[in-house]
Amino acid sequence: MAHALGIDIGGTGTKGAIVDTESGKLVTDRHKLLTPKGGEPKPMIHTAVELVEQIPGSSEPIPVGIAFPTIVKNGLTLSAGNISKKWIGYDARTRFSEALGRTVTLVNDADAAGYAELHYGAAKGVPGLVILTTLGTGIGSAFIYNGVLVPNTEFGFLEIDGDIAEASASYRAKEEHGYDWKQWAKRLQRFYTHLERIFSPDLFIVGGGVSKNADDFMPLLDLSTPIVTATHQNNAGILGAAAIAAAGLG
Ligand code: BGC
Repeated sequence: MAHALGIDIGGTGTKGAIVDTESGKLVTDRHKLLTPKGGEPKPMIHTAVELVEQIPGSSEPIPVGIAFPTIVKNGLTLSAGNISKKWIGYDARTRFSEALGRTVTLVNDADAAGYAELHYGAAKGVPGLVILTTLGTGIGSAFIYNGVLVPNTEFGFLEIDGDIAEASASYRAKEEHGYDWKQWAKRLQRFYTHLERIFSPDLFIVGGGVSKNADDFMPLLDLSTPIVTATHQNNAGILGAAAIAAAGLG
């Protein structure tokens, strides 16, 4: 059995579990702590350490993957949509590795979710172009062509009607603006139609916590591309981070 520790750090929550990377199943409970307000590097790293200490078996010498809500290249975090700007250009992989006392793999959270869906979920065996979007505090994206993940796409930053898509179509935007499902679906429609126009995908996968309410908004979308919910929803980041670490990628 190939176990790995997956940690999914978001603007709101920091979650983790040990994963069996062959079956794509959690082998411990999913543990969760709130991400500290302000999203500054030191408190966020501290929260990750605290979380790992709570997970039974996490001190075993198993691979550790962290899914993170920024562009990640060569271990550096290069953006900061919903966390402190101090993360931009930060050597996050080194800092997490030092704090946890072991080498970690660091990847974008939506890419981790895409990798999980590719290996254990809705994108498995799907030929052509699959675009996964996570609708949460921000909008994350994963771009998978014929089973290969192209990392660090940021479709939430696509400019639509003069603003970035995540400002009006993320789940946070729905909450903050008080949109009902119909009003929010209109914004999602603009976003997905735009993606269709420029990429002609074969499948859209919708992830993020709100995918559990799919019946409230997915039937309101009128797209020519099939659209389905993520198989793993809130666990996809954990599964993908663990699987990417176990595969030695990232
Ligand atoms: C970030 C992405 C991230 C997404 C979901 C966006 O604000 O730019 O990198 O994947 O939020 O957390």
